[in-house]
Amino acid sequence: MTQTAIKRIAISTGGGDAPGLNAVIRAAVLSALNRGWEIYGIRDGYNGLLLPEQYIDGGLLRLTRERVRGITHLGGTILGTTNRNSPLNYPIQDGNGNVQYVDRSDELVRAFRLHHLDALITVGGDGSLSIAQVLAEKGLRVIGVPKTIDNDLDKTVITFGFDTAVAFATECLDRLHSTAASHGRIMVVEVMGRYAGWIGLNAGVSGSADVILIPEIPYDLNRVVEKIKEREEHGSNFTIVIVAEGAKPVGGDVSVLGKEVGRAERLGGVGDKVAAELQAITGKETRLVVLGHLLRGGSPTAEDRLVALRFGAAAVRALEEGQAGVMVALDPPNVNYVPLDEATGRMKTVPLDCDTVLTARDLGICFGD
Ligand code: F6P
Repeated sequence: MTQTAIKRIAISTGGGDAPGLNAVIRAAVLSALNRGWEIYGIRDGYNGLLLPEQYIDGGLLRLTRERVRGITHLGGTILGTTNRNSPLNYPIQDGNGNVQYVDRSDELVRAFRLHHLDALITVGGDGSLSIAQVLAEKGLRVIGVPKTIDNDLDKTVITFGFDTAVAFATECLDRLHSTAASHGRIMVVEVMGRYAGWIGLNAGVSGSADVILIPEIPYDLNRVVEKIKEREEHGSNFTIVIVAEGAKPVGGDVSVLGKEVGRAERLGGVGDKVAAELQAITGKETRLVVLGHLLRGGSPTAEDRLVALRFGAAAVRALEEGQAGVMVALDPPNVNYVPLDEATGRMKTVPLDCDTVLTARDLGICFGD
């Protein structure tokens, strides 16, 4: 079947925001306009199409050169995003305050047709890309763009947002060294990353942490205490511990802040436990810093901007080449296309024998094992 020529496309951003989203939007918009296509931004994931009455512009924003001027360096997304309201599992309130979850994907596909949108570029993490896969199976021409600060998508060497998160966490570790040393304290720093330890590992090594706790290496705090004592014997009366939110003790489980129906569990709290236990065992004053959403804000680094701009432009080139149902992926020095169903098949976690882990061990950094 020959595909109709593209005249009008849409772009949406879904899931948690990440520095670089606006750069993707700008590159996609300019690349589309330069081909003579129209491009529209869907508000708040797919809400702009599923709840159009809630938006003064009807939920679809016509994207022009003026709209995307000067946004490359801005954090967040000018389109808005959401990590609830999946069209596959959409919450609907009945009159009695009860919530039912329904599949609205057919309705969404109809909305695309109604607006004469020939194709969709969807920017998101594994959740958004899984939705994209379903929309592609239902006949939409979809190109996925991988995004997450967690860097846990298997089929791309890097996701934008990750470098900015690592750079910020590293700067925080730099700043914490002097106050930890001045007070002779243990400083525990909790970072995001879900079930992958990439942010904790890369920031921990770059920021000279003494201890790095990541989900891939269950920890034993006795090993950490040994490290603290060893440091004291060598004249260092302070210790910096970075702990990924998905880290767990040997034989234990991840710390969870909460779980809502239709959403991923909210990780968090492990830093608090580690800090309390270390203080109790060592008797040393211990302080906790949770970086949380600070890791998702701010201006993207040059590397994240570049990857994001390359992804946005590549997504438009993919459509022009007749691609559909694929995700753009960084495979240096190229950006290539990976089938959407392969893109979300496996989570990319830290391999225990990877060079960064080996480097950390060579530097004497303790993983709690
Ligand atoms: O996936 C990105 C991420 O920031 C994770 O690192 C974190 O666990 C989660 O999103 C937090 O989600 P929310 O913004 O819903 O609290």
